Amino acid sequence: MDLSEAMRRVADLSRTIRHHDYAYYVLAQPELSDRDYDLLYRKLLDLEKAFPASVLRDSPSQRVGGQPQDGFESFRHSVPMLSLDNTYSIEEVRGFLDRVQRLLPKQELIWVVEPKADGVAVSLRFENGEFKVGATRGDGTVGDNITANLKTIKSIPLVLRDAGAGMGRIPVCEVRGEVYLSRSGFLQMNEERRKAGEAEFANPRNACTGSLKQLDPRIAAKRPMDIVIYGIGEISGLEEADLHSHSTVMALLNSLGFRTPNRTWTCHTESDLLEAIKDLERNREGFEYEIDGAVIKLDSLMQREIVGHTAKAPRWAMAFKYAAERAITILKGITIQVGRTGALTPVAELEPTLLAGSTISRATLHNEEDLNRKGVRIGDHVVIEKAGEVIPAVVSVVKDRRRGDERVFQFPGECPACGTEVVQAPGKSGGGVIWRCPNRHDCPAQIRGRLELWCSRRSMDIESGGTVLIRQLVDAGLAKDSADLYDLQSDQIVSLERMGEKSARNFLEGLQSSKKQDLWRLVFGLGISNVGAGVAKTLCRSFAALDEIAAADAGQLAAIHEIGDVIASSISEWFGDEANQRMIERLREQGLKFKSELYEDSEDSDKPLTGKTFVLTGTLPQLKRNEATARIEAAGGKVSGSVSKKTSYILAGADPGSKLEKARKLEVTILDEASFLQLLEQ
Ligand code: IVH
Repeated sequence: MDLSEAMRRVADLSRTIRHHDYAYYVLAQPELSDRDYDLLYRKLLDLEKAFPASVLRDSPSQRVGGQPQDGFESFRHSVPMLSLDNTYSIEEVRGFLDRVQRLLPKQELIWVVEPKADGVAVSLRFENGEFKVGATRGDGTVGDNITANLKTIKSIPLVLRDAGAGMGRIPVCEVRGEVYLSRSGFLQMNEERRKAGEAEFANPRNACTGSLKQLDPRIAAKRPMDIVIYGIGEISGLEEADLHSHSTVMALLNSLGFRTPNRTWTCHTESDLLEAIKDLERNREGFEYEIDGAVIKLDSLMQREIVGHTAKAPRWAMAFKYAAERAITILKGITIQVGRTGALTPVAELEPTLLAGSTISRATLHNEEDLNRKGVRIGDHVVIEKAGEVIPAVVSVVKDRRRGDERVFQFPGECPACGTEVVQAPGKSGGGVIWRCPNRHDCPAQIRGRLELWCSRRSMDIESGGTVLIRQLVDAGLAKDSADLYDLQSDQIVSLERMGEKSARNFLEGLQSSKKQDLWRLVFGLGISNVGAGVAKTLCRSFAALDEIAAADAGQLAAIHEIGDVIASSISEWFGDEANQRMIERLREQGLKFKSELYEDSEDSDKPLTGKTFVLTGTLPQLKRNEATARIEAAGGKVSGSVSKKTSYILAGADPGSKLEKARKLEVTILDEASFLQLLEQ
């Protein structure tokens, strides 16, 4: 055989295999037995081996090509990958539908309901019909180029099918979809890992993220990943096609060779739509991937254009997340966790069970009161629940299943971490009483909790400062407070078990750069009771520097809007503590930033709304809550969550809550959206 003959055959075989891949992976309608398919594939490989020059760029053999990479290149999305607003409440879905209708008065709206696949969002870019780049969402603007791994997914076409009129060669076609691991694929993969003594993945989504992050595409190829496509990004050269709606786009994508959701619902009325959401929920288990909700999308592309989007998400779509999932399992024991404030939390140790896609072996029991109210005993069958990102919780006991040998749990009188006698203290926001370890400065559990908060992403964001390292540092007596971290030397860290030089360096560098973090992060990181990120920001807007916050008495603090008596006294108490004062002095010597940037921002007192406080309630006709907030803040005003004497205005929309009544009682000025916009213009 000569080269030209080989090339002809290779091209033929490639085409045939591509056809069978499509039939098998996209349509799930195989036309060949696995054996016959393998024979074809072998023939192709043999020919390509004998005539290396015949290998086509888009040959099926190129799905796993190339060498392991050192890292992923960045890829800038030409059209940002937005996320979706989501809710667990049908009321909010109604509010969303009303909002869109108000933006499109008197227009007929058609809605599409789709399954919300729980996997990893990716974008696939095709140029002239050829698969060029596949990337993760990243921050929505820039993601990782993971093309090599994505090529291993057989339901992603390497070349587009020709949908007629030369459409298969369109100049740019970017599609967006969700990569997932099927439930069965996940279980099988974990089974194999267990046998091989490897760590199992908690759920299909984590397994999928892990697979896409593989630097060696040969490993990714072994993971049973698949994809479902739900939309487009940049697209050009389709002037001929009449793409006026999401449904027509999806039909086109289908004919270009993409897998789209097996089932979607087209709805003309609110009641149709709510029924579709329920119908999908009933059919959830029938999909081969995990579904965590329903996505509701406006069908018409023109209407989408009018409605627009915010920086984060489109205004024409919303995700309705299915409520908490529950499971029954056995309570094997109760342990006590000591948090950074010394609060003792009972934790249920459970017989591991699969719940909402994750293996759960622990759940919170909140506090002693809660535990007693539910009458939980060790050995009980308990109902556990998990909603979204929240920690799973024990909700009730299945008393019918008691056998009589269950044991009542005795709440300890001493702190399990340091042995100090515990004391009773009022719980958060009036939630009953809790037990607390009073050994603030020496209890290792409290020290760990405080250091974890300090290093966390939400606070000082210190690279590599994770739970394991912190435990080691505390156990080795190397750190008792945040200031100690900045005294650490490289050799001290390297001497810890399983600490490499690289991680040590990362940690030290993370500490160095944390010195420049905004003051509100530092204030939040101090772990003062009742001072979350929100209160920390409020403080940093009202005071120019940490010293001013420290010097303020409870009265001055409480005069600040949003800071009540309880918060004010915990702040002044914290700064009154001598050990805390010494730590602050050491942080100052170590060069941390004590000046507030937020304060400088609000310096200019000539902004129109400086000194004014707003409370928002109900749904506004046009503005979303975050937009209204942004406008108020840009004009120098503040937004607060609750109405008080200090409130200047209440901005009320449809279906306002009790806040409006309270505002009326306190005679706060009430604004609707129109008068609010007027006020801004003045
Ligand atoms: S549309 C601009 N449709 O959910 C609209 N997203 O929480 C972007 N997702 O990042 C999304 N199934 O990864 C859309 N049928 C579907 C989806 C879906 C899953 C994911 C997607 C997105 C996330 C938002």
